[in-house]
Amino acid sequence: MRGAGLSVIAVALFTARPASADPAPPPRVQGERIVQHIEALSEFGRNPQGGVSRVAYTEADRQGRDYVMRLMRDAGLSVQIDAAGNIVGRLAGGDPALPPILLGSHIDSVPNGGNYDGDVGSLGAVEVAQVLVENRLALRHPLEVIVFENEEGVTVGSHALASGVEPALLDSVSQSGRTIRDGIQFLGGDVAALASARRAPGSITAYLELHIEQGGVLDREKTDIGVVEGIVGILHSEARVEGFANHAGTTPMDQRHDALLSAAELVAELNRIVTRAPGRQVGTVGWIHAEPGAYNVIPGVASFGVELRDLDEAKVDSLFGELRAAAERIGRARGTRVSFSEPVKTRPALTDPRLQRLIDRSAKALGFSTRLMPSGAGHDAQEIARIGPVGMIFIPSVGGISHAPTEFSRPRDIENGANVLLRAVLELDRNGLAEP
Ligand code: HGY
Ligand code: MN
Ligand code: MN
Repeated sequence: MRGAGLSVIAVALFTARPASADPAPPPRVQGERIVQHIEALSEFGRNPQGGVSRVAYTEADRQGRDYVMRLMRDAGLSVQIDAAGNIVGRLAGGDPALPPILLGSHIDSVPNGGNYDGDVGSLGAVEVAQVLVENRLALRHPLEVIVFENEEGVTVGSHALASGVEPALLDSVSQSGRTIRDGIQFLGGDVAALASARRAPGSITAYLELHIEQGGVLDREKTDIGVVEGIVGILHSEARVEGFANHAGTTPMDQRHDALLSAAELVAELNRIVTRAPGRQVGTVGWIHAEPGAYNVIPGVASFGVELRDLDEAKVDSLFGELRAAAERIGRARGTRVSFSEPVKTRPALTDPRLQRLIDRSAKALGFSTRLMPSGAGHDAQEIARIGPVGMIFIPSVGGISHAPTEFSRPRDIENGANVLLRAVLELDRNGLAEP
């Protein structure tokens, strides 16, 4: 564990006044400061299209994290990296017996991603903490700002914190090319001590995450704030089709065992399976790879990534079952063999109704319009829901674009979202989960 900035906290606390006895005007975040920090963070892993490729466990990820740790220390937080590689910035509470309020998100990105997914929530949470320190508002509860590692690789850091990590997951190879085990070490975690990163159920007061919507509902409706009701579960599995590599010129069409052709049929079949079932489930093949990969060789092996999402885990499992059955059929018909890796899953989670109402109340008190909505994207909040109540605040994504360099959220919306977060934290600190 590494620490710094404790003396800053000590000074801040010494002169602080209780947040609850505050007759002064309610504090507000500095929107320009958050935007400035988002811009500075976007330098780490910047790609030519103006977005970032800050894939977890890469050098860009590590540098981005160093930058955020500096910001946290400058804001007056004491900063540590837990054994899972999560960055934990802490402000002491007036009553250390109270379980902490957690805020957080992630700063890793998908390959060729944007500058707002995860960054808004991480830097928005740092801003909230900084405003508390600057206004000498001492909370009763300890406050922790957590930047979870490897969210895009199915919420690894938050999973470690809430549930522990299965050895098979540690040995799996992440998008960076490093195993998760090596990646955690690379970020300053300690795989041998992973259990120490784990938090017990009931050990937190609540977890709040600010995030961009990543869809187009709020932008289209011109609604300021989304109150998230639940977060989809995600299943990932790698399909591997084995056929027979042979000469593309001399092998007649009826004598081929074309692995890529079977894969293509399965990709289309996945789309049919997911589309014909009623509901809002989605299914995607986001990558595909053929071997040996030459114009004049019939592919002998094809592998591709299957992703399924829904708020109902049983439905995700049953769709995957249908895909496996289709793979059997297609494999038999084409003389190929299809296998699937053990699925890696994040479970769906509902947010806490009391926190939904707290977020809604906070937003309305600030004059914002709100709507209740599900999240089709996965988030660290769904992992933390295993150990305590979670709530999520969405702000509009312009044009509903995300996981792309043109992802954008307006400065005004970022500021609004962070102000809702700040207000919710202050009420949560005053009243816990009790409602007015
Ligand atoms: O993939 C997701 O839903 C998220 O953005 N990690
Ligand atoms: Mn994402
Ligand atoms: Mn995200």
